[in-house]
Amino acid sequence: MSATQPASQPANSSLCPPVIHPLTPRHAADAARLHILGQPGTFLTSLGADLLALFYRTLPVSPVGFGFAALNGENRTLGFAAVTTSTGHLFVEMATRRLGQLLPPLLTAFARRPSLLLRAGQTLLYPLLTGRGADGGDFHAELLAIMTEPAARSQGIGGALLAAVCAECVRRGMTELSVTVDAANSGARRFYERHDFFYAKEFPLYGRMMALYVRRLAADRGE
Ligand SMILES: CC(C)(COP(=O)(O)OP(=O)(O)OC[C@H]1O[C@@H](n2cnc3c(N)ncnc32)[C@H](O)[C@@H]1OP(=O)(O)O)[C@@H](O)C(=O)NCCC(=O)NCCS
Repeated sequence: MSATQPASQPANSSLCPPVIHPLTPRHAADAARLHILGQPGTFLTSLGADLLALFYRTLPVSPVGFGFAALNGENRTLGFAAVTTSTGHLFVEMATRRLGQLLPPLLTAFARRPSLLLRAGQTLLYPLLTGRGADGGDFHAELLAIMTEPAARSQGIGGALLAAVCAECVRRGMTELSVTVDAANSGARRFYERHDFFYAKEFPLYGRMMALYVRRLAADRGE
């Protein structure tokens, strides 16, 4: 995976620019915290910090997962991005290798809010809803999450994380990166469009409309 690289320096900041570091299990609790801050009210957030942290501990050690964290000079995580080259395999891995750790927080969440069960079922169908099947194609990667600490946004951290993601996708031979975003999330949609993603389609998930964006990576050299 690529070496660390600084994000672009915010014009009005005298602080050191964050360093982009490969995501590891030790970033999992911060990733869960940032996920909850960045995606309030969504299905995954409603499953709780423990389950999200388990997910972000699993992803970077999975053969079909990787990501990056943006760290400041005090090693604090200001942002992260998480990617899979097979959503279907990642789900299977969570449900098999992590079942013992997965069940307690999952059952607690379902007992608290039974309606989450229906959404969990929709999540299992998600690879089919995007129209890419369980494997998503041999050379396709999916950006599962990209989040920047609210106070650190608009300083180039998201762009630097995305550049690292694209470079790593190319290194792994991926030719396409997709991302699903809430259709009402106009800020994130603008972010992706600025970074050469094209709008592919919309589809319903969790009772909301989602927009699928795709970025072609062939002959891409990162950003
Ligand atoms: C989407 C998100 C990750 C972008 O992160 P970010 O760190 O703010 O991204 P950047 O700073 O690279 O770019 C954001 C904006 O800052 C501007 N910007 C980029 N570099 C900059 C710099 N050095 N100085 C000032 N502004 C800058 C860009 O023009 C961009 O403007 P836009 O919003 O009009 O596109 C962030 O807004 C976020 O966490 N949102 C909540 C979670 C979410 O919705 N994630 C996406 C769905 S998974």
